[in-house]
Amino acid sequence: MTALTLSTAAAPGLRADAIVVGVTKGAKRPVVAQGAEAVDKAYDGKLADVLETLGASGAEGELTKLPAPAGFKAPLVLAVGLGDEPSKDAAHEAETLRKAAGVAARALAGSKKAAFALPLADADAVGAVAEGVLLGAYSFDTYKETAAPADNAPKAKNGKAPLAEAALLGGKPRDKEQKAALDRAVAVSEELNRARDLVNTPANDLNPAAFAAIAQDAAKEHGLKIQVLDEKALTKGGYGGILGVGVGSVSPPRLVKLSYTHPKASKSLAFVGKGITYDSGGISLKPAGHNETMKCDMSGAAAVFAAVVAAARLGLEVNVTGWLALAENMPSGSAVRPGDVLRMYSGKTVEVLNTDAEGRLVLADALWAASAEKPDALVDVATLTGAMVLALGSRTFGVMANDDAFRSAVVEMAEEVGEPSWPMPLPEHLRKGMDSSTADIANMGERMGGGLVAGLFLREFVGDGITWAHIDIAGPAFNEQGPFGYTPKGGTGSAVRTLVRLAEVAASGDLA
Ligand code: BES
Ligand code: MN
Ligand code: ZN
Repeated sequence: MTALTLSTAAAPGLRADAIVVGVTKGAKRPVVAQGAEAVDKAYDGKLADVLETLGASGAEGELTKLPAPAGFKAPLVLAVGLGDEPSKDAAHEAETLRKAAGVAARALAGSKKAAFALPLADADAVGAVAEGVLLGAYSFDTYKETAAPADNAPKAKNGKAPLAEAALLGGKPRDKEQKAALDRAVAVSEELNRARDLVNTPANDLNPAAFAAIAQDAAKEHGLKIQVLDEKALTKGGYGGILGVGVGSVSPPRLVKLSYTHPKASKSLAFVGKGITYDSGGISLKPAGHNETMKCDMSGAAAVFAAVVAAARLGLEVNVTGWLALAENMPSGSAVRPGDVLRMYSGKTVEVLNTDAEGRLVLADALWAASAEKPDALVDVATLTGAMVLALGSRTFGVMANDDAFRSAVVEMAEEVGEPSWPMPLPEHLRKGMDSSTADIANMGERMGGGLVAGLFLREFVGDGITWAHIDIAGPAFNEQGPFGYTPKGGTGSAVRTLVRLAEVAASGDLA
């Protein structure tokens, strides 16, 4: 990952490939943002004029390259648009910086070192720019095997290597708050990028056992407690949901429990992640056009995994248990059939009417297992329904809960970290659509409001009296379009930062 430093260096003498400055959209013309004073001065205070001449407006995400002023060691100035002048709330401001830093970092792929002269008003701004750089510079090229260069120099196989080094100009390396914000950004971004790697890894290399092994390595590295239930243990324990989904695959399912504990913790959180390493739909097979990206169906488990490790790296005073419900959903002679009945870990029976509604089955068992430990709050994250993508599009996740205040709190925390989300209801009338003539409940109900139906199904497997929220990331988990802001193509790491924020809020005693 890109190496980050807080730097007090002056822009002119800095040896770098580029200096990044911010430009906002003024009333009539672009306005040079705070932090770029020294650069502006070197253009005789005419940087705004130069930018305007070059057609820049300061619109969000806009990039303008110009030669550095005479006397600068760096050859290039890269102006990145910050949009409208700062006005809105702190979270909005931070997100603007995060996006701008991400756009610039991505544009600087192939460069060794860049200096970021963006407005660093406080520690929050430092954290935002750092996250933007680290997340925006991400690239996944494990599977690109372009011929090695003649001199055998290390080179990204994808073409350009991610930006190697970034100095945040105007940062205060001795300021404790700024230093902490930088360290936090590094820990969260590293784990988030690891989640992206997991999502991007194809299912022929990442099956449930492989994912569990990676979790085991991370547990060792970070001193976490881990328990992996394999298919034998799952059978013995009666985890009919996870087993039923995984029984058609030659790669058997796993339930991973990853625990971070702090000796001074007074609150406990449980995170549950949907970990379908590939969702073919099973016997209710998905048609071509709907299965090409289904390696992403373990994005919830990847987010939970990343968040637990990040909480540990940050040393948060809270106990966090992550549950990864891992299975591969495949059709075969041993696969579960539409019409089969599964006996779930909770004891309830489920008639499987559609084997493609598999996420709720693995989550049900993990939610019940997590509930047994009576956490103060329980949150599941899942690429659960296409209906949620239809409702909210590809960048916003839906949040449902059995507690209105908690749902609002989760939506607010998502906003604070720059993740678009929206509260969704759990309408009681949709429950009867899942009535089964054979079993306690069916795994499918009315088609309309399918995302909410799935949420109502999950609610049946949350223990009594437990505060629970469900985050459906089917839209934002995997970016099928071009990169934007600090979000790359492919796995995005959706919900990681919201979960980390929740752990921070719980650690600070502010969880209602
Ligand atoms: N993994 C899918 C949901 C999904 C769709 C994730 C698009 C990401 C992008 C899930 O397992 C699924 O197939 N859901 C079905 C449920 C239906 C059969 C009740 C769906 O949404 O169509
Ligand atoms: Mn499915
Ligand atoms: Zn699925």
